[in-house]
Amino acid sequence: MRFLLIRGYRGKVVLLQNTKICRVKVAMSIDNSYQTVPSGRQIILTGDRPTGPLHLGHYVGSLRNRVALQHDHTQYVMIADIQALTDHYDRPEKVRESVIEVALDYLAVGIDFNATTVFLQSGIPEIAELTILYLNLVTVNRLRRNPTVKAEMQQKGYDENVQAGFLMYPVHQAADITIVKATLIPVGEDQLPMIEQTNEIVRDFNRIYKSPVFPEVRPLIPSMARLPGIDGAAKMGKSLGNAIYLSDPADVIARKVRSMYTDSNHLQVCDPGVVEGNTVFTYLDVFDPNQAEVAALKEHYRRGGLGDMVLKKRLTEVLEHVISPIRTRRAEYAQDTQAIMHMLQKGTENVRDIAQQTMCDVRKALGINYW
Ligand code: TRP
Repeated sequence: MRFLLIRGYRGKVVLLQNTKICRVKVAMSIDNSYQTVPSGRQIILTGDRPTGPLHLGHYVGSLRNRVALQHDHTQYVMIADIQALTDHYDRPEKVRESVIEVALDYLAVGIDFNATTVFLQSGIPEIAELTILYLNLVTVNRLRRNPTVKAEMQQKGYDENVQAGFLMYPVHQAADITIVKATLIPVGEDQLPMIEQTNEIVRDFNRIYKSPVFPEVRPLIPSMARLPGIDGAAKMGKSLGNAIYLSDPADVIARKVRSMYTDSNHLQVCDPGVVEGNTVFTYLDVFDPNQAEVAALKEHYRRGGLGDMVLKKRLTEVLEHVISPIRTRRAEYAQDTQAIMHMLQKGTENVRDIAQQTMCDVRKALGINYW
């Protein structure tokens, strides 16, 4: 397998091909580092469920990658409103109003709608059509074993009574990915089971229908694929109530950082503290441009004599530095939401053309092209 180095952000990237994991160490400064993607122009597809505004977890896990990749590849970003309805079927208005929130977040972080085709899932009925055909290739047991589905079902308390629509959403997601014949998926770690399931479907489809219609896909996962929540939970999530949003005002960020989990045994400033698993340090590792100073702070914290408030003040400033330009751009774009909806419509129309071509190939492979 060949790799191409592109300019990206700090940290290392884990690239999976089939089950083989290649870890690639890259330079460690925020603006001057490299990440690896397969050589050649890739077709990229990612998406987000519109169930509210996006947060720092999305930013670290996938949004930054999309911005870095958009000029050198063919990139599609999908607002997954139909997938959002799988667990919000009783709150469709929440999904509808979140579409513009997500689009604003995309623009604010630097996704350029001229370089990236941003589209709405509900505008591509071919995705639903392809899902129906894929459902024949997947067993219910396999879906129940999908680790992401399993974790979400547990979190939502679905048990045996899970809706069919929710259980099969990984198949629907495989259709999202393959309808544009995508080859690379920049996502957070929690989405890896979806990609594995997509590749199983792709391989079965190509083999059973004896036509190489779809390429296999690869995930692109940043080293900090999963930013912990401000409560120290493994994952930051909207529904977990532990998120810092890209649209949060400065005072909200300050309040959230003050409430952050550190080391529960670090009661007095003079006590030695633990750095590992200390969420404030985890965030400083990810966002602080001055890593030499962070290393010195860790040393001091371990020794004792460094208070949590000093660290939290620093983190508040660091996060404000990251979020304030995003917030400003977001407010500018929010002045004209009609223009944004128009851009979304254009992107959706473009993808519709491609989706129709893909369905021609699919119908031919299955012999359901009668006329
Ligand atoms: N399941 C993804 C999430 O919850 C959203 C999504 C839908 C997606 N379709 C996709 C991600 C296709 C990558 C590729 O965040």
